[in-house]
Amino acid sequence: MPLSVIILAAGRGTRMKSALPKVLHPLGGRPLLAHVIDTASQLAAHSINIVHGHGGEAVRQAVASEALSWRLQHEQLGTGHAVDQALPTIDDGDTVLVLYGDMALVRVATLRALLADVDRHALSLLSVNLDDPTGYGRIVRDDNDDVARIVEERDADDDIRAIREVNTGFLAARAGALKGWLSRVGNNNAKGEYYLTDCIEIAVADGHKVSAILCADPGEALGVNDKAQLAAAERVYQLRQAEKLMRGGVTLRDPARIDVRGDLSAGRDVEIDVNVIFAGRVELGDNVRIGANCIISDCAIGAATEVLPNCIIEDSEVGARCRVGPFARLRPGNTLADQVHIGNFVEAKKSTLGKGSKANHLSYIGDSEIGERVNVGAGTITCNYDGASKHRTVIGDDVFVGSDTQLVAPVTVGAGATIAAGSTINKDVAAGDLALSRARQTIVKAWDRPRKGKR
Ligand code: UD1
Ligand code: CA
Repeated sequence: MPLSVIILAAGRGTRMKSALPKVLHPLGGRPLLAHVIDTASQLAAHSINIVHGHGGEAVRQAVASEALSWRLQHEQLGTGHAVDQALPTIDDGDTVLVLYGDMALVRVATLRALLADVDRHALSLLSVNLDDPTGYGRIVRDDNDDVARIVEERDADDDIRAIREVNTGFLAARAGALKGWLSRVGNNNAKGEYYLTDCIEIAVADGHKVSAILCADPGEALGVNDKAQLAAAERVYQLRQAEKLMRGGVTLRDPARIDVRGDLSAGRDVEIDVNVIFAGRVELGDNVRIGANCIISDCAIGAATEVLPNCIIEDSEVGARCRVGPFARLRPGNTLADQVHIGNFVEAKKSTLGKGSKANHLSYIGDSEIGERVNVGAGTITCNYDGASKHRTVIGDDVFVGSDTQLVAPVTVGAGATIAAGSTINKDVAAGDLALSRARQTIVKAWDRPRKGKR
């Protein structure tokens, strides 16, 4: 049966108390809605329809894709009304799957089970047993244990409120039948809305059997209506990422203290200490070790490289067997070859460092091209900015840069050259030469230092 997906995303999200439309709040670094679309995309649907309203343009732009059809719901008159905005364009023979833009944790396998179930029923929905069912629509069953109707919390009496089996909101039915049932749904309820859930009672009245399949993992039914639920959903999401990594062989010192806000891939025998945040696309080679408290975004890190604690590494490529940190900062645009050492309080930006080069302490390396086996002494800085433009520093292979050197760019130091400690280098240095620009030391013998009270 051809499948059409409808994702409801028009709600106000009032309880988020935010200018950002609810479905754009991030889960694992990406909009809630983007996760739902991702999941839907794995179902081989021939159309994915998004019902949008609040924050319309912003929502469309945030998840723009040609594979999506957008249906505007001008006024938010309820979930039934929302589904009705998408139905006219869907063939009666299609199976319709309704998803919610604020419920981003549902798994593809669960939705597949729901779709398999609706092949045998007029209407299938996904339910879940919750210890605290507050806020959800309750599944009311008849004496034969068949689904009779769904009652929203606000319309429920105490007996119904005591029911712990609730509606996740996900349901599937044939489009033609759904159109018919929805045309009969009214808005005579506590919210004055057209409830999608009223279709159940109508279908049952028509003699259909409605099936509710129980979702074993309540995490999948976590909806986001406020910031507390957003945080709860984030924890569920992050624990899933951590479990996936561990199943892939990654050692996590504490699966509750890693955040993956994007895509992380890791080779064999990778170890990650606590409080590490990965963002964007990060690739870790075999045997990589990441120390505590690091933030790593959009990076590839080569095999057996060790990142020591408290490093921030952005948009850079790090080779194999490197050592970075502790307390190093790689800003965007660096390429480190193999066996490079970047030590504590070293900042690098848009620079390349050749194989085996080292900057172990307290340096700024910006807009630089550094050859192989270069030693950058403690306190060395590239003066890459003259107040108007950025300039490049080029350092050849085997150069030794003494401590506390300023390299005033643009400047080139030839291969094998030596820069004496404390130098300010503003002219090119040829290969093999020694450059020394510090003031000559003067000695005054047995100096009688001024002292208070002395005459
Ligand atoms: C809904 C269900 C409830 C279920 C719960 C699960 C109904 C009537 N109730 O309640 O049974 O337990 O979800 O989370 O369906 N939306 C629109 N247009 C509208 C109204 C809502 O697009 O006019 C969208 C919202 O953006 C949201 C989704 O539909 O993504 C659900 O709406 P919401 O108001 O959050 O429904 P609940 O009260 O949570
Ligand atoms: Ca909701």
